[in-house]
Amino acid sequence: MNKLCLLSLVIGLASQSAWAENATTGVGAASTLQAKNAFIANLMKQMTLDEKIGQLRLISIGPEMPKPEILKEITAGRIGGTFNSVVLPDNRAMQDAAGHSRNKIPMFFAFDVVHGQRTIFPISLGLASTWDMNAITRTGRVSAIEAAADGVDMTFAPMVDITRDARWGRSSEGFGEDTYLVSRISATMTRAFQGTSMQAPNSIMAVVKHFALYGAVEGGRDYNTVDMSPVRMQQDYLPPYRASIDAGAGGVMIALNSINGVPSTSNAWLLQDVLRRDWGFKGVTVSDHGAIKELIDHGVAKDFREAAKLAIKAGVDLSMNDKAYGEELPGLVKSGEVSEKEVDNAVREVLGAKWEMGLFANPYLRIGAAVDDPVDRNAENRLHRAEARDVARKSIVLLKNQNDTLPLKKQGTIAVIGPLAKSSMDMLGSWSGAGLPRQTVNAYDGIAAAVGDKAKLIYALGSNVTDNQHAITYLNKMDDQIAIDPRPEQDMIDEAVKAARQADVVVAVVGESRNMSHEAASRVDLVIPGRQRELIRALKATGKPLVLVLMNGRPLALGEENELADAMVESWFLGTEGGNALADVLFGDYNPSGKLPMTFPRSVGQVPAYYNHLNTGRPYRPNDSNYTSNYFEEPTSPLFPFGYGLSYSQFSVSDITLSINKMTRKDKLTASVMVKNTGKVAGETVVQLYLRDVAASISRPVKELKNFQKIMLNPGEEKSVSFTLTEEDLKFFNPSLKYAAEAGEFKLMIGLDSEDVKETTFNLL
Ligand code: NOJ
Repeated sequence: MNKLCLLSLVIGLASQSAWAENATTGVGAASTLQAKNAFIANLMKQMTLDEKIGQLRLISIGPEMPKPEILKEITAGRIGGTFNSVVLPDNRAMQDAAGHSRNKIPMFFAFDVVHGQRTIFPISLGLASTWDMNAITRTGRVSAIEAAADGVDMTFAPMVDITRDARWGRSSEGFGEDTYLVSRISATMTRAFQGTSMQAPNSIMAVVKHFALYGAVEGGRDYNTVDMSPVRMQQDYLPPYRASIDAGAGGVMIALNSINGVPSTSNAWLLQDVLRRDWGFKGVTVSDHGAIKELIDHGVAKDFREAAKLAIKAGVDLSMNDKAYGEELPGLVKSGEVSEKEVDNAVREVLGAKWEMGLFANPYLRIGAAVDDPVDRNAENRLHRAEARDVARKSIVLLKNQNDTLPLKKQGTIAVIGPLAKSSMDMLGSWSGAGLPRQTVNAYDGIAAAVGDKAKLIYALGSNVTDNQHAITYLNKMDDQIAIDPRPEQDMIDEAVKAARQADVVVAVVGESRNMSHEAASRVDLVIPGRQRELIRALKATGKPLVLVLMNGRPLALGEENELADAMVESWFLGTEGGNALADVLFGDYNPSGKLPMTFPRSVGQVPAYYNHLNTGRPYRPNDSNYTSNYFEEPTSPLFPFGYGLSYSQFSVSDITLSINKMTRKDKLTASVMVKNTGKVAGETVVQLYLRDVAASISRPVKELKNFQKIMLNPGEEKSVSFTLTEEDLKFFNPSLKYAAEAGEFKLMIGLDSEDVKETTFNLL
């Protein structure tokens, strides 16, 4: 061991115990900051310019570069970290190679651990439907534990892009449309990934993404332009990133989109003024895949050289999978166009991140020793099935339940139909880490396990997930293919109808394949694709009770299905234990409590659809539509509003009581309601508080979520639910971007979704 390494080990070990005391403080806790800075400054003094530039290179493990070449590059000090490798011996070999480099700077290993590593939890939109921070903490913690056990140090998550346009395929990856809810989840997930200390062997560094505003791409088309007013940015879109940073996120991934004409990757305002100056971020920034090179296509750099120059000057530390820095920075520094100080700034952050991840103290912190490697890395005992099942059932949203069609009885004959009913691959959802379809319970298997021999199941495919050849060709270029049954569609529908006729009830599992709700998977329509809608009509025509189980990664336009189905269950993509969780809900072993984190529009033409819109001068009024802001072919209201979701219990909410109705800036105002379970079974619901600033210096939304509580009530039980508001809750960004509360009248609403609310008013003096 050379002197430098010994020093790092000593400082590192010392720092580890100090970090344990500083639980959850995240990056740069004061007690270790000096030691860290001294160590890094000393290390950087010994590095050549080429070695520094090498640290800025993050490469993907894949077909791009053969393994022996990667090892050679690492030993030569030309790679700082990799992503996409979750195989311990491979990561160990790379770390060994780093040990043979001149400075022995450890590598780090990153991966997209978005909603699970080996055990896959529901997609993020499903997690958001739980409105349950304990469930989200469990998801993040299990993900971190499993990822760290696979030698992963860093995740490219949480993904907290606010989105109001369901056409965007990456809606599935985020937590929905609401700033408050997404910010709460963002902070919770960040803390869960990073644990009590980022230097713990079972913690991974969170890299919040995609900074910034990626969810606002025009037309919901992936990678498209974002053009947005500064007020909307500050008020609605930026807070979730900040919430993650305030919770201690070690890294930030820069978005692929431009913002008002300037790509995020070359955006000094974004990366320096907002991120570092205003928010005090002290961690590492990572470009998205190939984004530096894309500055040429954005039309802000004439060539690779200029792209590298713009990115490093803007504040992009790590370059993901392009050679821009390696090829261009040496020349740029030589010519004086980029100063060595600018390179140093980036290198300092990369080394800082390695320190924070505990890698200088122990490069094998998460890789461990070869003797401890699992014999089978896919072994069943490495999974956390109980946790996944519990979180999955919490994320299911009951959309309709006419005549108590649900819960079903475990008896008689049940027809399970639909192209997604037996798909374990789709159950995993997009970005499914190292999750395996063969370890995943699909809907049919979950239902079969629940009924055992108490009921008979009949199965039919019913239709393919889509018959659109353009879509099939496009989607099949992704990692997994859409399974297509070559039989004529009508034959498959006829077969399903025959099965339905023999059954007492029909459960149709329909929706989207997982690669339809993914990166680069934007849609022009929001209806259930292909011939599945015809299948649903045909099943309805049998007269049998029809339960639709929806699998999809975005809000769908379900107007017709809502008419046809007796019951409708939104299950998103539920992950490893999906089928079991679904069966728990279908048969009433679990009472559903999920609430929608995104508005479900009636038609694609309504998007962007979001509950916290401005009122306009001619607001839509359902019974007075002349010359008001609406669409004329159908009601302008959503089909299912934000925050909506039914239960097998019914709940009533009393009128609101306020502790005061005139509030000074020092006061705390308490708003209370009584919530009662008027149903026959115990159940949970989410009590939601919304505010509206009636007249302000800028038009304010018709309502904004400010708080919520999830409560459990036994049949007949009544509980008081109280929320406390301070001046802070009334603040907003005014036209001069000042964040302040203005005196005047506020509407305060409490209810069980964003539309079904009780209302009262108070004044801020
Ligand atoms: C591109 C995606 O935009 C980003 O979210 C992801 O983290 C990287 N690829 C790495 O896989």
